Amino acid sequence: MAEQRVGFVGWRGMVGSVLLQRMQEEGDFKGFAPTFFTTSQPGGAPPQVGLEAPPLVAADDLKVLGSQDIVVSCQGGDYTKSVHPRLRAAGWRGYWIDAASTLRMEPGAVIVLDPVNQPVIDAALARGVRDLIGGNCTVSLMLMALVGLYRRGWVEWVSSMTYQAASGAGAAQVKELVAQMRALGAAAAAELDDPATSALLLERKVHAELGAPRFPTQHLGAPLAGSLIPWIDKAVDEGQTREEWKGHAESNKILGLSPEVPVDGLCVRVGALRCHSQGLTVKLRQDVPLPDIEAAIAQSHPWIRLVPNEPRLTRERLTPATLSGSLEIGVGRLHKLKLGPGYLGVFTVGDQLLWGAAEPLRRVLVQLLERQ
Ligand code: HSE
Repeated sequence: MAEQRVGFVGWRGMVGSVLLQRMQEEGDFKGFAPTFFTTSQPGGAPPQVGLEAPPLVAADDLKVLGSQDIVVSCQGGDYTKSVHPRLRAAGWRGYWIDAASTLRMEPGAVIVLDPVNQPVIDAALARGVRDLIGGNCTVSLMLMALVGLYRRGWVEWVSSMTYQAASGAGAAQVKELVAQMRALGAAAAAELDDPATSALLLERKVHAELGAPRFPTQHLGAPLAGSLIPWIDKAVDEGQTREEWKGHAESNKILGLSPEVPVDGLCVRVGALRCHSQGLTVKLRQDVPLPDIEAAIAQSHPWIRLVPNEPRLTRERLTPATLSGSLEIGVGRLHKLKLGPGYLGVFTVGDQLLWGAAEPLRRVLVQLLERQ
């Protein structure tokens, strides 16, 4: 059989770069014919991935896109909106794998997160679904943490309070966060170097810098270093943000739940670089003993890092600082809350660019290539 043709769009961006890096780490670049698309340098040299590829092709070249068996896009929602409908209207029947949210909730699309919803993916492929879309990072990371409880039918509802990293907003925002950190450090440097400086003086210096007109906030819209931003994405109905709306809509679609399990909470941007964290209140349908809950979570898939609810290990193993760049999903602070029977407190941390974005796409691509 002829080698499958796989087109990559948006491979230079943050998610796309992590995708290519993961594919190289896993030795995925074999047995197919890649084409790399570009919005800026058609004719340029393709990346070195160990497989031969033609010179870069313009990302709006529908003819070459339409000759691919699979297109993987990390180019963003505007690109999907512009190109996907035209490709489909021209009769293209290939698989479209996408990190953007544009197509996620379409009835003809499946949200891919295989350690959580392989049966939903299998059923979708069997009925001819060809749009395979990565979930919202926060939702995917929450389900990676809680799927063991969902599978046992224990979850009545979830309230999710998030602590989301700058990378979820984009590369420019990550850079701006670090620039903000530098500005704060520089503003306080002289006082910090003097051991006699009081903490209150230091705070006043930092606070003044946070409000200075020169303080860089062009991309984040507000100070994030030394602060937080309790708003992510656009407003939707009834006081929710779109990021908060996705929690319920996407988690239920990913798991294929009927009746649905309510999920809601507040989404907050914090000064972490690429790990999203979440403080979850899980209302259980019955008052399950803690050891059974721990066992269900530990057994849910191979990437769980279950952290005992104690201070030293929590500080060492359940933070963005320790889980950045890791495929492990930290789950800890597990204990019954004083709100009443069946209320469980959970804290989870996961890398937003890995399980939150690139990894589910990589894995479904590999599955499609192996099915042939
Ligand atoms: N929307 C998410 C965020 C990232 O802003 O953190 C992508 O799912």
